[in-house]
Amino acid sequence: MDDLLDRLRTSIGADHVLTEDADVAAYVVDWTGTRAGRALAVVRPSSTEEVAAVVAACAGAGVPVVPQGGNTGLVGGGVPDASGNQVVLSLGRMRRVREVDPVAGTVTVDAGVVLADVQAAAEKVDRLFPMSLGSEGSCTIGGNLSTNAGGTAVLRYGMTRELVLGLEVVLPDGRVWDGLRGLRKDNTGYDLTQLFVGAEGTLGVITGAVLRLFPATPRHATAWVAVPSVDAAVSLLGLAQQHAGVHLSTFEIANRQAIDLVLAHLPGASDPLGEPSDWYVLVELAGSASDDGLDETLESLLGEAVEAGCATDAALAGSPSQRSALWALREGISEAQKVEGATLKHDVTLPIARLAEWTDTMGPRLQEVCPGVRLVTYGHVGDGNLHYNLNAPLTDDGRSDDDALRAAAADLTTAIYDSVAREAGSISAEHGLGRTKAAAAASYKSDVEVDLMRAVKQALDPAGLMNPGVLVPPAPGASA
Ligand code: FAD
Ligand code: MLT
Ligand code: ZN
Repeated sequence: MDDLLDRLRTSIGADHVLTEDADVAAYVVDWTGTRAGRALAVVRPSSTEEVAAVVAACAGAGVPVVPQGGNTGLVGGGVPDASGNQVVLSLGRMRRVREVDPVAGTVTVDAGVVLADVQAAAEKVDRLFPMSLGSEGSCTIGGNLSTNAGGTAVLRYGMTRELVLGLEVVLPDGRVWDGLRGLRKDNTGYDLTQLFVGAEGTLGVITGAVLRLFPATPRHATAWVAVPSVDAAVSLLGLAQQHAGVHLSTFEIANRQAIDLVLAHLPGASDPLGEPSDWYVLVELAGSASDDGLDETLESLLGEAVEAGCATDAALAGSPSQRSALWALREGISEAQKVEGATLKHDVTLPIARLAEWTDTMGPRLQEVCPGVRLVTYGHVGDGNLHYNLNAPLTDDGRSDDDALRAAAADLTTAIYDSVAREAGSISAEHGLGRTKAAAAASYKSDVEVDLMRAVKQALDPAGLMNPGVLVPPAPGASA
C-alpha cells in the first residue's frame, strides 16, 4: 500500500493525501454521526486530470474508491466501510464555476461546487438554479447528482436528474468520459448522463456538470398554515394547484412533534401561530418581477381553504425576514431531531391519495412495536414524499431513551417498509440507498430489477472498486 500512497502523493501533492487520524476524522463519519468507517487515505485532487490519476492508481492497486462531496448524505454512501482499505476521494477542492450562459440557460461547474454557490452564480445573471435543500450550504453538485437529490423545489422543477444536461465522469479504470454537452436535444444513443445520476458513486466519479437554469423568481408569497390532518393537507394541495397553477413552488408538511423539536432546539425559532395544531403546511408561490398578484392569490386560496375546513389558521410572511423565519421552521427539523437524540430516518414515497390513511394507521402500529416512540413526520408532501422519521421515547425524567429506539429499530423499519411496499411506494424517495438501505431495497425489488442493476454495475465497474457495498448489494456468493 505504501507504493499506492507514494503514487498518489506524486500525482496530487503530498499535502492532499491525508492519512493521520486527526486529518481524516471529518471524512470517515457521516452527517448523522451513526456511520463511521476507516480510510486507507483521504485524497483531495484539484482537477479532472488529478481525479483520473487517483482512480487509475487505485484501480492498478486493486483499492476501492469512495467518492465524497459535502458528506451530508443520510444513508452512509459517502463514507468508507470499517476495513481501512478504502480511499476516500473528496471533491472538496474542485469548486470552479466554469461557465454561465444565461441565454442558453446553462451553468457548467466542477462537481465539488457547493449547491448554494451554484444558486448564487445563477442569481448573478438574473437566473434561477431551483434545487434547494436544508444542506445547501455544504452539499455539492456532485453529491446532488449522485444521489439524485430532491428537496423543496421538486414540485415545480423536478428532481436533480431533470436539472442536468451533461456530465464529465472519471470511469472506474481512470478514463475520462467528456459528456459536458449543454444540448437540449441529443438523441444519439443510450442516455449515459442519466446513468450516472443517482448512481451514488458506484459507476465512476462525476467531475463536472452542465446544469439547467430557469427564469429568476424574485417575488414570493409564503404562508405557514395550520391544517387539521394529512387528509386536509392533501385537499389544500389540490386547492393550491387550482389557485396558483405554475406559481406553486413549495408545499411542505410537518407535524407538531417536528415543530416542537425545532422550537426547543433552534435558537430564535418561534411559533408564528397562537394555537398549536397537529399538522402544518409551508406553502410558497414564486413568480417573476412582473408577477404582481401572488399575495392576493395566496390570501384567496387560504380563505377558501378555511371555508372548506382544510385549514384552520395561517401566518403570511410580510417581509423577507418573516419568510426566512417560516422557512427555518421547516428546514431546521433535521438538525433539531439530531440534537434531541437518537433518530431513525425513513424517507418514503406513497401515492398522494394514500398518504392520509397510511399515516393514520402507521402511528398506532409503531406504538405497539416501541411504546412512546415519537413520530417526527414531515417532508415534501406535494411529491408524496414523507420523512417518516422517529425519535426515541422519553424516559420518566424526560430524557431521550436512545437505547429503547435502537433496540426496536429493525422492527420499526421493517413495519414501515413492508407497509410502503404494500402500497407500491418507495423506501427511498430522495436520499438514495447508500450502505444503509442497499440490502433492504434489493429485497423489495424484483429479481429482474436487481439483476439489471448488477449487470450495469458489472459492465462499468467489473473489478467492483467504485464504492463497493453501496447501492448494489453483491450477488449471493460473490466475494465483493
Ligand atoms: P455526499 O454525502 O458526500 O455523498 C453522497 C453520495 O454521493 C455518496 O454515495 C458519494 O459516494 C456520492 N458522491 C458524492 N460526490 C460524488 C461525485 N462527485 N461523483 C460520484 N459520486 C459522488 N437530500 C434530499 O434529497 N432532499 C433534502 O431535502 C435533503 N435535505 C437535507 C437536509 C439536511 C440538514 C441534511 C444534512 C441532508 C439533507 N439531504 C437531503 C441529504 C443530502 O444533503 C443529499 O443527499 C446531497 O445530495 C448529498 O450531497 P453531498 O455533496 O453532501 O454528497
Ligand atoms: C429534509 O427534507 O429536511 C431531509 O431530507 C429530511 C431528513 O433529514 O430526514
Ligand atoms: Zn427531504
